[in-house]
Amino acid sequence: MPLIFILNGPNLNLLGKRQPDIYGHETLADVELACSRLAKTLNVDIRFHQSNREYELIDWIHEARESGAAIIINAAAFTHTSLAILDALKAFEGPVMEVHISNVHQREAFRHHSYVALRADGVIAGMGTEGYQLALRRAVSLIDNNTPG
Ligand code: DQA
Repeated sequence: MPLIFILNGPNLNLLGKRQPDIYGHETLADVELACSRLAKTLNVDIRFHQSNREYELIDWIHEARESGAAIIINAAAFTHTSLAILDALKAFEGPVMEVHISNVHQREAFRHHSYVALRADGVIAGMGTEGYQLALRRAVSLIDNNTPG
């Protein structure tokens, strides 16, 4: 079964407690459970990780180079700052989906630029935590079709 890495950046461990007006009340464990359930129906395996440390996200992207068919990444604030995460993603050959729970384009100007987007095959923002499941479906169709269409 294809393996999909779902990677989450800094402060997303506080999901559900942190600024619920922006990010909602669901926790990251809820998101992981929903993704695991969907993965079963789509016949894929997932590795779901969160870290507040940039290097850990980079190490997981490197791991995905060896064993991953796709990466779904919410790099959180590193989205807007991390050239190192962009470079790591560029070293990965499969589909990359960028997810943001909030609509970053409606927020502060510093959230409008994304390094991840320079590599991502698709971007989902403002769909709440449901965005992860949408990204998972898209990643699977890209793996299955092996085409960008
Ligand atoms: C976020 C948006 C980022 O700007 C922010 O730094 C986050 C979460 C989102 O999911 O909406 O931590 O990636």
